[in-house]
Amino acid sequence: MAKEPVRILVTGAAGQIGYALVPMIARGVVLGADQPVILHMLDIPPAADALNGVKMELVDAAFPLLKGVIATTDVVEACTGVNIAIMVGGFPRKEGMERKDVMSKNVSIYKSQASALEKHAAANCKVVVVANPANTNALILKEFAPSIPEKNITCLTRLDHNRALGQISERLNVQVCDVKNVIIWGNHSSTQYPDVSHATVKTPSGGKPVPVLVADDAWLKGEFISTVQQRGAAIIKARKLSSALSAASSACDHIRDWVLGTPEGTWVSMGVYSDGSYNVPAGLIYSFPVTCRNGEWKIVQGLSIDEFSRKKLDLTAEELTEEKALAYSCLS
Ligand code: NAD
Ligand code: LMR
Repeated sequence: MAKEPVRILVTGAAGQIGYALVPMIARGVVLGADQPVILHMLDIPPAADALNGVKMELVDAAFPLLKGVIATTDVVEACTGVNIAIMVGGFPRKEGMERKDVMSKNVSIYKSQASALEKHAAANCKVVVVANPANTNALILKEFAPSIPEKNITCLTRLDHNRALGQISERLNVQVCDVKNVIIWGNHSSTQYPDVSHATVKTPSGGKPVPVLVADDAWLKGEFISTVQQRGAAIIKARKLSSALSAASSACDHIRDWVLGTPEGTWVSMGVYSDGSYNVPAGLIYSFPVTCRNGEWKIVQGLSIDEFSRKKLDLTAEELTEEKALAYSCLS
């Protein structure tokens, strides 16, 4: 029997990530080749014509799994009945704007969209925030949608995770699919900590630790970390636009693994509500290593954290604590 369609909201759908993301969803990349979907696309009135153009292209592409498209500038219509919400919409930083100005605009957007999701989304709707500042936008969304379970609100750090896999694969000249269990700790910002202490590469004789294979502690603690931390800025410099296809693809990875589960023995990085694991302050949306089963994520416990890592975990937590305070000051 054919499955019931799943309703997926993409906010900011007329933007560049949205344009890369919606065809991936419609093709079954997120939920599989047997799962029909209905796309709900939201943008703001100045982008209404462009949004309608995206809808026209989706119709023209004749995706067999796509059972409907709602393209709207009405947040209530967009949120009604959605099972999954991918929050990409936001205000980009413009020349001359301070961090506080960007924060102020975005947290206000996330505060109001929180209410719409809380009132109109399907029960148990899963949310991933992509728009920057992703962790803090997700935190504000959580705080202003108190009836959505906190475990359902996450932010995207899978792009950083995938970037770390890519860097290790290039350095060791191995297939990226043979590298696993890197970790992104903390904020989706330049204070994030890409950690390969527990990462392995699949070899014919089993998994070998990445630090042993790389055998260059200076590179792992220096250039590797800064390359991953600065990758978003490097893409902006090269493209004059921020990452879009990799962000869209990673958002698909995030949702797919959350809903369908992570492979046995493999974890991924997700920005989730901290419960105090690894002495990360509770009450932040912080990126942790997680495994997923039956539609629920669980923080991987018991990993050893050395002194170098401890400092990095704390540094990015401090930045998130400051961002949280700044966000609240913008809303007061
Ligand atoms: P973009 O400017 O091309 O698109 C953003 C879209 O959001 C625009 O169409 C805009 O009209 C829309 N928008 C603005 N306010 C809105 C609102 N209130 N409701 C609905 N839509 C609204 O930007 P982009 O390149 O697609 O990037 C989107 C966001 O994702 C940015 O904040 C960017 O920094 C962030 N990003 C995050 C990651 C990550 O890994 N977490 C990676 C890349 C980009
Ligand atoms: C990225 O990591 O590519 C983006 O978050 C960069 C940005 O500032 O949009």
